[in-house]
Amino acid sequence: MEKKAFRTLNDLDCKGKKVLLRGDLNVPVHDGKITDATRLERLAPTIHELIKKGAKIIICSHFARPKGKVVPEMSLKPIGKALASVLNHPVSFVDDCIGPEAHKAVDALKEGDVLLLENTRFHVGEEKNDPALSKELASLADFYVDDAFSTSHRAHASTEGVTKYLPSFAGRLVETELDALNRALENPKRPVGAIIGGSKISTKLDLLSNMISKVDVLVIGGAMANTFLAAQGIEVGKSLQEAEMHDTARDIMEKAQQKNCKIILPIDVIVASELKNNPETKTVNIVNVPKDQMILDVGPKTVELLNQKLTELKTLVWNGPLGAFEFSPFDKATNAVAQKAAELTKAGVLESIAGGGDTVSALKHAGVIKDISYVSTAGGAFLEWLEGKALPGIIALSNLTQETIPL
Ligand code: 3PG
Repeated sequence: MEKKAFRTLNDLDCKGKKVLLRGDLNVPVHDGKITDATRLERLAPTIHELIKKGAKIIICSHFARPKGKVVPEMSLKPIGKALASVLNHPVSFVDDCIGPEAHKAVDALKEGDVLLLENTRFHVGEEKNDPALSKELASLADFYVDDAFSTSHRAHASTEGVTKYLPSFAGRLVETELDALNRALENPKRPVGAIIGGSKISTKLDLLSNMISKVDVLVIGGAMANTFLAAQGIEVGKSLQEAEMHDTARDIMEKAQQKNCKIILPIDVIVASELKNNPETKTVNIVNVPKDQMILDVGPKTVELLNQKLTELKTLVWNGPLGAFEFSPFDKATNAVAQKAAELTKAGVLESIAGGGDTVSALKHAGVIKDISYVSTAGGAFLEWLEGKALPGIIALSNLTQETIPL
């Protein structure tokens, strides 16, 4: 994705105008409490900038997966309160994202006011990208700003459809995310390496295939590495692996070689007979995995090898932990390699970009989040970008030549 191929807040003159801002307020909530407000914090600069410009700000977002029904536990109302405290600015709320109540709330806005609309996914048209819903949303505003990078892989009414009916602009978070991703894979300082963990090749097939044509070094960790090892005839005991993916694993390794991408697999591992906190463990060479044990982390020699490799890289993309890091001591390798990446980043010799799935929790657990060059707010969107897929939300913004359709 070429950066800045779209209009940004620099191009938006919105004093006294109504701006529909698509954020991603889909934050993790446990027992009614937000466990991580990062997405709200990252959205704040765009909102503050719009306040400063004198816009009337109407925020819309999805939250969880209510599947087109009103599910009270999936209301955005409590998230609005959290957003107000992050912004240190009042945020009013209306309990529908379209219709007469929404219009009434919008009409009451003054310059610099912020209104949050109820969950867009309470309407079945959201995920169907129904033009009727896009038009209804568009009818609330003069302009549309998309700052929901983490939802840009979804072609929904409030992300893609709405851009057809309003002049559309990228928010600051979308810009920042795209800049970081561009530095990581489109235009990286070489050599560039990737650490890809996770449990299944079957879910990361497109991602691995794209990676081997983009990076110089590909480290495969997590249970996915077991499939690659087993595909080479290495005994992996009772480890999680996908026997039906052995041919695919061999094919990826062969193609990587043709593309001059070096694949690194574990050379030693930590094994145990069950996955729980602090079981009895053994460190074994990769050719000595006992038949009745399972691989739960990479071993110290692999960590040494990876940390040495990191010193040769200029750019690192990280997605997925190396071991079962939620259980002690299988967080050891991920912690050690994350700390090395953070140290090199702090020293200014490595650009490190991380995101997707468990990665953020793993790096948080390792205590290095603030020392990684860029940690994406995106889960699925980050993965689809690593797969080389076009993100419909971003494509829609890039379509500058398109005239908007009159409502
Ligand atoms: C995310 O958390 O990845 C985004 O908010 C998208 O959510 P979804 O997977 O429910 O579409």
